[in-house]
Amino acid sequence: MSTKKQGLSSIGRKVLMALTGFFLMIFLLQHLSINMMSVVSADLFNNVSHFMGANPLVQGLLQPVLIFSVVFHFAWGMYLEYQNNQAREVKYAKYKGSANATWMSRNMIISGLAVLAFLCLHFYDFWIPEIALKYGEGDMSGLIQGTQEFRYHEELVHKFAHQPMRVALYIVAFIMLSLHLLHGFQSAFQSVGFNSNKYTPIIKKLGTAFAILVPLGFIFIALYHYNVHPH
Ligand code: HEM
Repeated sequence: MSTKKQGLSSIGRKVLMALTGFFLMIFLLQHLSINMMSVVSADLFNNVSHFMGANPLVQGLLQPVLIFSVVFHFAWGMYLEYQNNQAREVKYAKYKGSANATWMSRNMIISGLAVLAFLCLHFYDFWIPEIALKYGEGDMSGLIQGTQEFRYHEELVHKFAHQPMRVALYIVAFIMLSLHLLHGFQSAFQSVGFNSNKYTPIIKKLGTAFAILVPLGFIFIALYHYNVHPH
């Protein structure tokens, strides 16, 4: 069997991981920006959330692409890990220097699984009640119904205010997200073949900044809503 062919297809597999990863990182920035508005002004947050929730382009195109990216990124990541494990068993004796790469990919799988577990909780918290309200009976327990269009801020506060367990779980998840991004950001650039003496060091620094600042922003939002609102 030709090793060249194997090499190419393995790069191809990584490109798909990187492309969905890029999309998810852009989503994270967008999600953080909108959530930050909940700290600045309840009205602004409600208006933007309502726009996102009602806009046909967001709902009909971006949301399906997002769901596809999350599912694909997870399933493909697991598949690549399985394939790496198979290959490692064969190659281990030859390439002992691969121990470091093994540790990195272990780290990605563990942090990735933690983020996935978080997403299950997160969907239970916000997304399922939202979908049920929009397309179903609209009367799920745990969902506060204010005036329909302006309930978003109220719901968000309700989830975090004086809820130490939920806030703690979210914070652990954001730290795992940070670990995932610390490797994932620059690795995605590598996988699409971006390699330059001039720009690669800048991308690595940018990746570190992104991986620390974005999860920190989410931590700030969770802590803010935990603390600021009286019962
Ligand atoms: C304090 C931090 C966060 C808050 C307060 C928050 C809040 C929300 C809210 C209110 C929604 C529902 C939007 C709707 O009305 O449909 C939502 C959806 C979602 N969140 Fe978060 N989120 C946080 C962090 C995160 C993180 C770190 C991730 C990813 C790792 C994430 C991924 C998602 C996804 C995939 C959706 C579904 C998007 C959609 O509506 O299509 N969230 N979040």
